Amino acid sequence: MEGLNSRRWCFTSPMLVVFTLTIVFAFSPTGAYDPLDPNGNITIKWDVISWTPDGYVAVVTMYNFQQYRHIQAPGWSLGWTWAKKEVIWSMVGAQATQQGDCSRFKGNIPHCCLKTPNVVDLLPGTPYNQQIANCCKGGVIASWAQDPINAVSAFQVSVGSAGTSNTTVRLPKNFTLKAPGPGYTCGPAKKVKSSLFLSADGRRFTQALMTWNVTCTYSQFLAQKTPTCCVSLSSFYNDTIVPCPVCTCGCQNNITQPGTCVEQGSQVLKTPGINTPTKNFAPLIQCTPHMCPIRIHWHVKLNYKAYWRVKVTVTNFNYRMNYSQWNIVAQHPNFDNITQLFSFDYKPLTPYGTINDTAMLWGVKYYNDMLMEAGPDGNVQSEILFQKDMQTFTFKQGWAFPRRIYFNGDDCVLPPPDAYPWLPNRSTSLQIEKAFIFVVSLLVSVSLLASL
Ligand SMILES: *[C@@H]1O[C@H](CO)[C@@H](O)[C@H](O)[C@H]1NC(C)=O
Ligand SMILES: *[C@@H]1O[C@H](CO)[C@@H](O)[C@H](O)[C@H]1NC(C)=O
Ligand SMILES: *[C@@H]1O[C@H](CO)[C@@H](O)[C@H](O)[C@H]1NC(C)=O
Ligand SMILES: *[C@@H]1O[C@H](CO)[C@@H](O)[C@H](O)[C@H]1NC(C)=O
Ligand SMILES: *[C@@H]1O[C@H](CO)[C@@H](O)[C@H](O)[C@H]1NC(C)=O
Ligand SMILES: *[C@@H]1O[C@H](CO)[C@@H](O)[C@H](O)[C@H]1NC(C)=O
Ligand SMILES: *[C@@H]1O[C@H](CO)[C@@H](O)[C@H](O)[C@H]1NC(C)=O
Ligand SMILES: *[C@@H]1O[C@H](CO)[C@@H](O)[C@H](O)[C@H]1NC(C)=O
Ligand SMILES: *[C@@H]1O[C@H](CO)[C@@H](O)[C@H](O)[C@H]1NC(C)=O
Ligand SMILES: *[C@@H]1O[C@H](CO)[C@@H](O)[C@H](O)[C@H]1NC(C)=O
Repeated sequence: MEGLNSRRWCFTSPMLVVFTLTIVFAFSPTGAYDPLDPNGNITIKWDVISWTPDGYVAVVTMYNFQQYRHIQAPGWSLGWTWAKKEVIWSMVGAQATQQGDCSRFKGNIPHCCLKTPNVVDLLPGTPYNQQIANCCKGGVIASWAQDPINAVSAFQVSVGSAGTSNTTVRLPKNFTLKAPGPGYTCGPAKKVKSSLFLSADGRRFTQALMTWNVTCTYSQFLAQKTPTCCVSLSSFYNDTIVPCPVCTCGCQNNITQPGTCVEQGSQVLKTPGINTPTKNFAPLIQCTPHMCPIRIHWHVKLNYKAYWRVKVTVTNFNYRMNYSQWNIVAQHPNFDNITQLFSFDYKPLTPYGTINDTAMLWGVKYYNDMLMEAGPDGNVQSEILFQKDMQTFTFKQGWAFPRRIYFNGDDCVLPPPDAYPWLPNRSTSLQIEKAFIFVVSLLVSVSLLASL
């Protein structure tokens, strides 16, 4: 049954890629579908709050409705194409990365005159007079399941040379959301029912003059060609540790690409600033056969009469990355009967309502919510206690291992099911016992013969 989930990321065959992409695009207009979070999206809402002599002022709010995919530093950037000759007079809580050519203006110079502006969040610590609610977090947005209060980001924009009524305004087109890399696809802006805002005293509603929404969805296919994490397995009933598949995220190649990875404890790591994140956030990976920045190890640790216990360890192999607010999502049929979880937070995900086999796990705030850079502190771990459902529970055929694991929303590559640690074969051990008895009796008879 694990066969269904294995080798999902096998990109050796271009046919498979074409086939998978065809399926993905055939079932979803925006090209993204995640079976564990089928409704996950980022919704961008524009609320026009006032008309100005030559345009309008809008509050733009981004809601991250994705259960387990957050945007971490260096944060989001949002772009769009103006329908006409609009300009941005000013912004609060964000800024356009380029001003563009504003030479047609005399006197008052706009903040941005580009046809296709690109906007980024301001950094924490921005002066209060340049802030609005939910702004200025360096573009970081939490995921909905983990921290819904911080799953929102907002800024205010004052638009000129634009329509000045709900009939003349033209909606911006071609939205692009980067986080900061590719991965998101945004649909067209759609006029929706005007938003209502509750006043601070909670006694009066005001209403946006006009509202439009844009929905962006994520696709791992668009985001990157190679996987970013892998899974290794072990158990108390078999000494074999099944490692991550070799070359999961890349291959060590000393000849053509020396220096693609760094040996553990290497002198290179003592170079000052070597692990400072670079502008393009290129990783500095520790040399491993799998070459993944993240490995998740699932160890079946103990078997009690009515319970069983698993130890999960997440290891960071990237010397240039601290993962803030990391999370994992794991699928296993026994997650409907999780009894206790140590040192991680937990939330069941039921993407299909009735099937309760998926769990989201993340670090406890201020304790282990930061997965530190590669090295002695670069791991987090937890133990999970499951109550057995006697009808389905078994150690046979790899049942105790997860069906699927995500790290920060990215699918992790599992070893092929035929490599899973086996339960020792009853008949094999019986044969060993028989062989042992045979050898012992042989030795006894030999020594008896010798003593004669
Ligand atoms: C986006 O997510 C919200 C919340 O889950 C959902 O209500 C909405 O229908 C989604 N939008 C789309 C276009 O999927
Ligand atoms: C524009 O606003 C008026 C009220 O100010 C409303 O009656 C009308 O339906 C709105 N038109 C559109 C296209 O939203
Ligand atoms: C939308 O953006 C893409 C890429 O930036 C560009 O190729 C395309 O022409 C744009 N479409 C419109 C209608 O502006
Ligand atoms: C537009 O976004 C708002 C904010 O999340 C949401 O409440 C509303 O349902 C969305 N409308 C549509 C039609 O997607
Ligand atoms: C690359 O070098 C490391 C140590 O220098 C070695 O362990 C590894 O086997 C080499 N890999 C290949 C593919 O030659
Ligand atoms: C990770 O965090 C630690 C402690 O805050 C800091 O010393 C280190 O420089 C950070 N590493 C990276 C790669 O940002
Ligand atoms: C799923 O299982 C967990 C663990 O037993 C339980 O806390 C949760 O309420 C269940 N959720 C649903 C929707 O059945
Ligand atoms: C949890 O385990 C108990 C004991 O075997 C069983 O009776 C119960 O049905 C299980 N719950 C679920 C949701 O499977
Ligand atoms: C442990 O599992 C491996 C497969 O990963 C198998 O080759 C080996 O025979 C098993 N050991 C025992 C004692 O069953
Ligand atoms: C385990 O036992 C079964 C049936 O007795 C046999 O078919 C299988 O080959 C055995 N596996 C091993 C590893 O000995």
